[in-house]
Amino acid sequence: MLKCLKHHIFKIIAEIAATENLEVYVIGGYVRDAIIHRPSNDIDIVVVGNGIHLAEKVAQKIGNNTHVAVFKNFGTAMLNYMDCEIEFVGARKESYRRNSRKPIVEDGTLKDDQERRDFTINALAISLSKGKFGDLIDPFGGVEDIKQKTIRTPLDPDKTFSDDPLRMIRAIRFAAQLGYTIQEETFLSIIRNKERIGIVSKERIADELHKIMLSKKPSVGFFLLDKAGLLELFFPQLTRLKGVETINGRAHKDNFVHSLKVLDNISKHTDKLWLRWAALLHDIAKPQTKKYYPQQGWTFHGHEFLGAKILPDIFRDMKLPLNEKMKYVQKLVLLHLRPIVLSQEEVTDSAVRRLLFDAGEDIDDLMMLCEADITSGIPEKVKRYMANFELVRQKLKDLEERDAIRNFQPPISGDEIVQIFGISPCREIGIIKNKIKDAILDGVIPNEYEAAYQYMVQIAVELGLKPVK
Ligand code: CTP
Repeated sequence: MLKCLKHHIFKIIAEIAATENLEVYVIGGYVRDAIIHRPSNDIDIVVVGNGIHLAEKVAQKIGNNTHVAVFKNFGTAMLNYMDCEIEFVGARKESYRRNSRKPIVEDGTLKDDQERRDFTINALAISLSKGKFGDLIDPFGGVEDIKQKTIRTPLDPDKTFSDDPLRMIRAIRFAAQLGYTIQEETFLSIIRNKERIGIVSKERIADELHKIMLSKKPSVGFFLLDKAGLLELFFPQLTRLKGVETINGRAHKDNFVHSLKVLDNISKHTDKLWLRWAALLHDIAKPQTKKYYPQQGWTFHGHEFLGAKILPDIFRDMKLPLNEKMKYVQKLVLLHLRPIVLSQEEVTDSAVRRLLFDAGEDIDDLMMLCEADITSGIPEKVKRYMANFELVRQKLKDLEERDAIRNFQPPISGDEIVQIFGISPCREIGIIKNKIKDAILDGVIPNEYEAAYQYMVQIAVELGLKPVK
């Protein structure tokens, strides 16, 4: 246990604890992570007394004008030291009002502080006090739960979850991240208390979802959220993908299960959070576009367009960022069928160039998404699709080397067109620019200035324009 107290900060805190005769502990996630050998840079310190006072003493001892960020309302203080973020707080008792997350806080003992925490594995403390340095305080069997890989609340789970309903999602997040099982009584309590998730802000939920998303096999977390009945309460767009309908003996696949398979597939190849989100949401509009035709069977025509269209609403709803990250996911949702279509037909240069133009810098991510989208259980099919994608990739590579379409910049700018023809800005400029772009993408002319110039003059004549220089 002492090994995890090697960081110099513990020596400094222990010296102050000794001179000031204080009861001080390192507690929570840092202790848990040290036991399971997970690297952690967040250190939580609890003192029986005043956390802000202790933080200031520690900063003085570190010297170098170490800055202490004080949060008076919460009675906490934070400082950074040697790659670590260290938070100080006084031991406390908390009780919660039924419909609010805002606790009524009172000073308490270490035991009070451990009791109010979410899970036994997060309630472990190690003493930094004189004569007790390195002693583990584990009143709820957290170490045994780590051994058994169990998520369990220290108190009656109904109380722990009612104090902060986000903990229901946290239980599932830890299970997904660590590969642990949620103890039955704890899980049943989540099911009982699920409606209380309604008082939790979507921002806090999104933080937990990102952590589930970034776990090794994210489907584990999403299936648990669904099993608990939580997912449909805060993310109904996703649970709407569930289910299989059969008409005349023809069934479509369960799009919830499929989306999660795609998410797991892509997670084997990338840690990019927003690419993983794109995998989860690529078929989000399938329920709205589902149709059965006796000849064709089930179709989902236009689900990629509708998916891209409703994506901002989903992001707004889930309090996900509405910036370029959303745009990136939207683009991948919109384009996710294009390489598939390409791989099924004879691949023409023109179609590949257009895909490269539309995807731009994100072409590799798009190809990764498409490959992850192959979830067929029939090995020959998978092999055939993968081989076709390989062909598309090869074509992309060849064309990229030749034409540099990925970062396509029009070889002739609108300003130049104005000057060459001595015209003022008008509709014709857009027409000329588009025609040049199309000619390049269709392989009529190479992506070069001279060829584009000649071509432009030709089109301009048709539009009744002549170069003035
Ligand atoms: N905690 C809690 N209830 C919450 C959030 C946090 O009881 N809703 C307690 C837990 O003891 C937890 C500690 O506060 O260990 C620190 O919380 P946080 O930093 O959010 O989580 P970690 O356990 O450190 O895990 P991670 O860093 O993976 O988020």
